[in-house]
Formats: sequence, structure tokens, C-alpha cells
Amino acid sequence: MAGAESLEIRWSDGTEGEIPYIWLRDTDPSGFHPHTGERTFDLTKVPLDIVPHDTEVTSDALLVTWNDGETPSRFGLDWIKAHRPGRPRHDPADLFPVAWRADLSGAGVPRHDARGLLASDAALADWQRDTKRYGISIVTGLADSTEAGTQVARRVGRLRETNFGLTFEVVSTPDPNNLAYTSDALPLHTDLTNQELPPGYQFLHCLANEAEGGGSTFCDGVAVAEYLRARDNEAFDVLSTVTVPFRFQDGGTDIRARKTVITLDTRGGVSEICFNAHLADILDLEPTRLKSFYRAYRLFMEMTRDPAYGIALKLSGGEMVIIDNRRLLHGREAFDPSTGFRHLHGCYVDRGEWDSRLRVLENSLN
Ligand code: OGA
Ligand code: ZN
Repeated sequence: MAGAESLEIRWSDGTEGEIPYIWLRDTDPSGFHPHTGERTFDLTKVPLDIVPHDTEVTSDALLVTWNDGETPSRFGLDWIKAHRPGRPRHDPADLFPVAWRADLSGAGVPRHDARGLLASDAALADWQRDTKRYGISIVTGLADSTEAGTQVARRVGRLRETNFGLTFEVVSTPDPNNLAYTSDALPLHTDLTNQELPPGYQFLHCLANEAEGGGSTFCDGVAVAEYLRARDNEAFDVLSTVTVPFRFQDGGTDIRARKTVITLDTRGGVSEICFNAHLADILDLEPTRLKSFYRAYRLFMEMTRDPAYGIALKLSGGEMVIIDNRRLLHGREAFDPSTGFRHLHGCYVDRGEWDSRLRVLENSLN
């Protein structure tokens, strides 16, 4: 049935859809490059209120003739049903997160063996899904070489280079430019909040963890933020609207960004956490806002350390923890370098690379 601006289609199984004409014109298969699949159609060449000259439904297709003399558009009826406006496109990487608390425990963190991930696409996809849902996993059985961890990361995608390099060594050094490169405790944080886009997944491959101390802590920032929303809505509002200045500076760099601690998606869900007390720059808010900010920020900081929300574990040589750095907070206990060697080798892979790999794997496996 044709209306003023749309076509109503009723499929044989009873499904009904309203298909605006402008969408049909914009989606005409001939408006996409035959090799790249990119849209080549220029929307400004047709009026917004375009109406077809004629439409015809056959047993398996919809044919639309326009007034511009172009060849009629042909759409498969099944194709239109699957892609009709108002239906979000299926995305194999769109996985519902499992929010977790202390009861997950270190033992409940998903574990996957490195040999499997390297040898099998199905095992790789399984691990990627687990890691994305929980925001954390541990890969076991890595060789005692700094290449072993990055080899797994490269199975996913390109490494995200930062001012600390393509990969970085977390060891206690006498002349550190980052608290991670000391033997001090690191309170729960997300990495590189001073970057325009903080890295997505962080890979920390443990080569040695023989010193006293040096245990790891993690909490699910989304679960903590939801806890804050329920307990103190005003504080939640402040942390999702007021931006914190973050900064890293050394001899060669001065990288700054302003971020809210909590980012919400368009439906009001918590989509991202940006929390790093050691990278927060001198706070520059007006005094009245500053007080309400400190109240909210301090409360969130306390909540990240609530034993009901955190898990603790100590990585051993040959294990690698992978965390979604834009969701989970991670920290470590202080360690005593005189009692043994501690060495983690790190790198990042952004969320976009992660999801792309997962989609490609799903397509090839199904
Ligand atoms: C880091 C970090 C944790 C650790 O390098 O970003 O937080 O266990 N390291 O050393
Ligand atoms: Zn860190």
C-alpha cells in the first residue's frame, strides 16, 4: 500500500513494515559501489519528499520506478524485511555485559589457554566473547617471552600505540615517568584517561611476579556506577556531567583531555568509566561546583575499594590478564623489589579492533 511518504509492506508471515520512500531511494542497491560496497548515491540530488512513479511487488522482490529516468530499484523482499527501518542491524559484537561484584572472585574470572586461541578461530571467538561480557579474562600457558602476549593481542587486531610505546614494560625502575614503573601500590584506576580516546583493551602479560606483594585488584566500574546511581543519584549526576581535567606530562609529551568519570549512552546506561586519581590534573572547577564534585568523586573512589565489589588475585609467570580499560578499574599492591623480580609486559588493542575481529570470526564460523 502506498502512502504520501512511505510504502506499507505486509509480508506473507504477517510482518508489517513502513518503508519511507526517501529510504528506498537512499538504499537502492545501485547507489553502492560494486566493489567496495560503500554508498556512492548523493542524497542532495533528490528531494526529501521524493515519491516513486510506480511500485510493484512480485513474489520475491519490490520494484520501484522513480521519476528521474534511472533504472528501477530492485529490493529482495526478504532483504527489506531484515533491513527495514526501525530494526537495529544485527551485530555479533553487541554482547550484553555481565555486571559483576566480589562474588565473581579471582577464581571466577574466565580463563582460556593461549595455545587454543592461537590455533583455533572458534576458541579465539569464545575467549573474545567472554572477555567482552565480563570485561576481564586471563590467558594461561604463555611462553616466557615478551612476544608471547603481544602475539595473542595481534590475533585480535592492531596494537594501539601510546606515548609509552607500542608495548611497554611494567617493571620498577629508578627513573620512572609513570607510577606503574615504581614498586608503589596503584589504587584502582583506568589507564590513560588523559588521552582523547583512552585505549580499549589492556593486555598485561606477567613474565615474573616473585616479589612479596604485587597482587592485582579489579572492579567492574559499570557495577560500581550503578551502585552509586542507586545510593546517591546526585553524586551520580555530578560524575556523569562534570568533566575532570586529566594530564600526563614528561620531557617529550603534554597530553591532556577532559572527561566525565561516568559516560552514559543514549538510553542512560553506563557505557564507560574514566577514573584515574594520579592522572587528574589540578582541579579547576568553580568553588561551589568543586565541593559537590569532591563529595561525589570521593564517594565513588571509596566505593571502588568496597570489598563487596572488588576481586583480588596474584598473576603468575605465563598468565596474562586482559581488561576492558574503559569499563574495569585495575590496581596493584605495593611490592618489595628486594624480595624478587616482577615484570609485566603490556599493550593495548582498541575496542573497535576487538569488535571487528569478533564480527569477522562470527561470519566465517557460521
Ligand atoms: C599499568 C598498571 C598494574 C600492575 O601498568 O597500567 O596498572 O600490576 N599496572 O603493575
Ligand atoms: Zn594501569
